[in-house]
Amino acid sequence: MKTKSSPAPAPQPLKTLLADARKAAKHSYSPYSRFRVGAALLLSNGQIVTGTNVENISYGLTICAERSALVAAVSRLGPKIRIQAIAVANLNRAVCSPCGACRQMLAEFASPQAEVIFQSADGVRTMTFSELLPMAFDM
Ligand code: THU
Repeated sequence: MKTKSSPAPAPQPLKTLLADARKAAKHSYSPYSRFRVGAALLLSNGQIVTGTNVENISYGLTICAERSALVAAVSRLGPKIRIQAIAVANLNRAVCSPCGACRQMLAEFASPQAEVIFQSADGVRTMTFSELLPMAFDM
C-alpha cells in the first residue's frame, strides 16, 4: 500500500548546520515577539558563522537572525565571503523560512545553488537559494 510520501531527510552536514542555528537561537534578544530565531551560514572556506535576531523597542529596527549572521560573517572575514549553505531554526516550533528582506541581503553572497534548510510543517525543508528567491534583484 502506498503511504503519504515524506520529504527526503536532510544530509548530515546540513543537519549539523541546523543544530548550529538552533544553538544560536538561544542567544536571541526577542522580548517583544518572544520568537527566538537562529541562523547558521556555511561559508566556502568551511567556516560557520551564526547569528540571532535582535529586537528593538521601535520594532522596525529589529534585525533578523539571517542578516545578523550575514553582517557577522562579513565583519569577521571580509567582503569576499561566499555562502554555501544557510540554516534557519527557531525555538518556537514554528514553520519559518527567511523573510524577504533577508533573502535579498543573502542573495548578494549566496550562489544560486547554495542549500537552504529551515523548519517546515513536516520536519525540515531543504531547497536551493534560487528556489527560495527566484529572480533576485540584480543590476
Ligand atoms: N525573524 C528572524 O529572525 N528571521 C526570520 O526569518 C523571520 C523573523 C525574527 C524577527 C523578529 O525578531 C521575530 O522573528 C518575529 O518576527
